[in-house]
Amino acid sequence: MSRRSKSTSSPRAGTATTKSWESVKGGLVADSLVSSFVESVSFDRRLYKHDIAGSLAHARMLADCDLISKKDLGQITKGLGQISKQIDRLGDAWPGWKTELEDVHMCLEAALIEMIGDAGRRLHTGRSRNDQVALDLKLWIRDAVTDLRHMIDDLSRSFVTLAVHHGQIVMPAYTHLQRAQPIMVGAELLAWVEALDRGATRLEQLLSLGLENPLGSGAIAGSSLHLNRHHTTKSLGLKRPTANSIDATATRDVALDFVYGLAMIATTLSRWAEQWILYASTEFDFIRLSEIYTTGSSMMPQKRNPDMLELIRGRCGDLYGRLVALLTMCKGLPLGYNRDLQEDKRHIFDAYDGVAECLVMASKIVRTTQYDKSRIANALDKGFLDATSLADYLVTKGVPFRTAHQVVGQLVRQCEQMGYEQLSQLKMADFNQACHAVKLGTKRCSNDVYKWLGAENVVKRYCTTGNAGASGVRRQLQSWRKRLKM
Ligand code: ARG
Repeated sequence: MSRRSKSTSSPRAGTATTKSWESVKGGLVADSLVSSFVESVSFDRRLYKHDIAGSLAHARMLADCDLISKKDLGQITKGLGQISKQIDRLGDAWPGWKTELEDVHMCLEAALIEMIGDAGRRLHTGRSRNDQVALDLKLWIRDAVTDLRHMIDDLSRSFVTLAVHHGQIVMPAYTHLQRAQPIMVGAELLAWVEALDRGATRLEQLLSLGLENPLGSGAIAGSSLHLNRHHTTKSLGLKRPTANSIDATATRDVALDFVYGLAMIATTLSRWAEQWILYASTEFDFIRLSEIYTTGSSMMPQKRNPDMLELIRGRCGDLYGRLVALLTMCKGLPLGYNRDLQEDKRHIFDAYDGVAECLVMASKIVRTTQYDKSRIANALDKGFLDATSLADYLVTKGVPFRTAHQVVGQLVRQCEQMGYEQLSQLKMADFNQACHAVKLGTKRCSNDVYKWLGAENVVKRYCTTGNAGASGVRRQLQSWRKRLKM
């Protein structure tokens, strides 16, 4: 990036390398720190495609409103097309990226003027960088949301594929990290799919609020030229022109919604990572992560550390930081564009990059992970996972639930005293005695009680919509395979 250390240039109209407003400085010697301090081209050049799309739409509208000629439009269209191709090819090495021009908008405009002369100097008619950057951000976020949807769907397909292969395994579910009830592995895998899909939908919904067209708001007050704002709105595929030029150039609500949406996805990823870090530990030993996605210890030869998962869990912190930074940046701003807003792009891009990278890594991890059926089976024996099922059984025999809860609690204590690990080790007489003790008579239970006990039996009995057992997983799998076109 070229950097000008001092400028003693006399006042003159802006050229390719002088700023359009520079003449007002009247030949003062510039401080080189200003140029590097104020510039954003080092990070906002990422917006070039969207900036060019906005400029093309603006130019077509100007021509349609007879504010520029058809010939000018032809030259602008051709010039911007060439510039776009040059940047596609050269990327950061494109010679038009000049720090002293401050930002992506000025670099592109300067290159166009250098290429086509006066027609290029007409492009900025009725436009300010303030409405331009507000537009660029919205267009960029719209594309980013589409990309994120693809990445999330890809990760969801990985979870669904794992659920197809390992989903029938019965495992304990935990509340308070204490064994609670038996579930199917598939139910837990699809829980993540549900949360991820909600994350993608949340981002898509922000577009319904955010896709108003700020172009034509100018610097703050609109324009005294007859710009047709509906023209650019339509050609950019936006919903409607923004209703208030001051709000349109001063707000970053869309960026905030976007980063919040990303932080929510990061939260889901972080929770999932934590869950699998636990499951991969010797204490649980429910899953085997592929060695590709674990690392060894420099000291302990036996270690297979889940570093990728730990990094996904840890990077969630960056997202919260970006969100709070953006919120804080906005909170004290008076109306109208303020240069503070230039910093939004650091947070937006960084938040996007972080989540995108984690989504791709997560998908690779999920695709290569195996559940260990026999280790999980060991965990089903302890913890009386079928206790709630037994209470439900008593309810079907007419026992009030609170009483059933009390009876089963008593039976669990009895098992513990007798050294039984499972309720199914109890005899019929034990069940009926416990009922008798709370004045329920002696014949409440019959032999069918054993069909309500044992984790394998229990997961087959769940019958509510969205349940975590066999019928629930079957239905959810069917629905996700259809939705994800698998
Ligand atoms: N680079 C600026 C930004 O990203 C563009 C708008 C600057 N406008 C201005 N009048 N200084 O926010």
